[in-house]
Amino acid sequence: METIIVATFNIALADGGAQFPCAADDTILRAALRAGVGLPYECNAGGCGTCKIELVAGDVASNWPGAPALGERDVARRRVLGCQSRPLSDCTVKARAGAQYAQASVPRRVRATLAASRELTHDLREFRFALPEPIDFKPGQYALLYLPGVDGPRAYSMSDIAQGQSSWDFLIKRSAGGAATSVLFDSLRKGDEVTIDGPYGMAYLRTDVDRDIVCIAGGSGLAPVVSIARGVAANPAMDGIKVHLFYGGRGVRDICGEDMLRALPGFGQRFHFHPIISTPDEADQKSWRGRFGFVHQLALETIGVAMASHEIYFAGPPPMAQAVQRMLFEEKVPGAQVHFDAFY
Ligand SMILES: Cc1cc2nc3c(=O)[nH]c(=O)nc-3n(C[C@H](O)[C@H](O)[C@H](O)COP(=O)(O)OP(=O)(O)OC[C@H]3O[C@@H](n4cnc5c(N)ncnc54)[C@H](O)[C@@H]3O)c2cc1C
Ligand code: FES
Repeated sequence: METIIVATFNIALADGGAQFPCAADDTILRAALRAGVGLPYECNAGGCGTCKIELVAGDVASNWPGAPALGERDVARRRVLGCQSRPLSDCTVKARAGAQYAQASVPRRVRATLAASRELTHDLREFRFALPEPIDFKPGQYALLYLPGVDGPRAYSMSDIAQGQSSWDFLIKRSAGGAATSVLFDSLRKGDEVTIDGPYGMAYLRTDVDRDIVCIAGGSGLAPVVSIARGVAANPAMDGIKVHLFYGGRGVRDICGEDMLRALPGFGQRFHFHPIISTPDEADQKSWRGRFGFVHQLALETIGVAMASHEIYFAGPPPMAQAVQRMLFEEKVPGAQVHFDAFY
């Protein structure tokens, strides 16, 4: 078998900070996290800009030169995206390193095999990828999937929890004309291999707080909040904690997930599922017995002024995430109680 040797460069944080190795095909952000060096980030997908660093010395290339989070002013100031920059030489970078950003489970790149998939709705599918061995992650975290023929990885949140099994589950929504989801839905077959890199993400279940939990998700955001609920159910230390999961779709055909909560002991007492649809058609108007409107409104109507005494997790497309953030700000929910990864 041919062995491919990839060059490794040294990355030094300016002002005498940490140093770590970064393979030529890795990115500075991910190499730092693999080495236990905490750098701030969110999406890992070029969309949020949280991972910006300043290149003091050395050269990098961007995996995605058109990434929306990098503007002309950044380029003029030698700022680059840590999540997209691979080194072409040893580098020195200025970054806001901090132990709070270090990963509890060090992210790894492994070859994984599509083991199973099943339809959940007309455009949401559960995918199970078999890993070479069990890899730990926290409920609510995500991984990067490198799919054949697709430029750059895509981030997908795990929907299960790590319990020693050698597989990770994902709930993935087909994106019209999307490069990665077309491969996932139309051409990837059972037994096909992909590269998975993870776990990543800071919106993981906090197990050391005893506040009840509100989870809010729209469309593609179901996976991490189901993982959070499953994580609470599996943790005896969180026995007294209630979870309200609010899930919004456009129409009746978008709603799913209740069966996943029903499978948890205490459904109806500790675990509550609250669906809502925003854009009903005529048939939905007649058949739907639930609520009409937006998911952040339903959460507010149900929880009310007690919102600020809950731990909040949310996930979904940017417009939903912005509406939830506005609502939480108006309800004066302390920032430290709010955890989310925006799906750019
Ligand atoms: C933290 C996080 C968690 C997510 N979790 C889920 C989930 O659980 N379920 C789910 O369905 N979706 C999730 N998403 C969204 C998902 O990552 C994809 O954006 C979505 O599936 C559409 O991908 P696509 O390739 O089909 O669409 P496309 O329209 O082809 O691509 C969409 C996205 O891919 C990225 N992208 C495009 N070109 C490049 C490139 N050259 N290099 C690198 N990136 C590029 C951009 O972020 C872009 O917004 C998550 C996103 C993030 C950031
Ligand atoms: S742009 Fe790099 S983490 Fe979001």
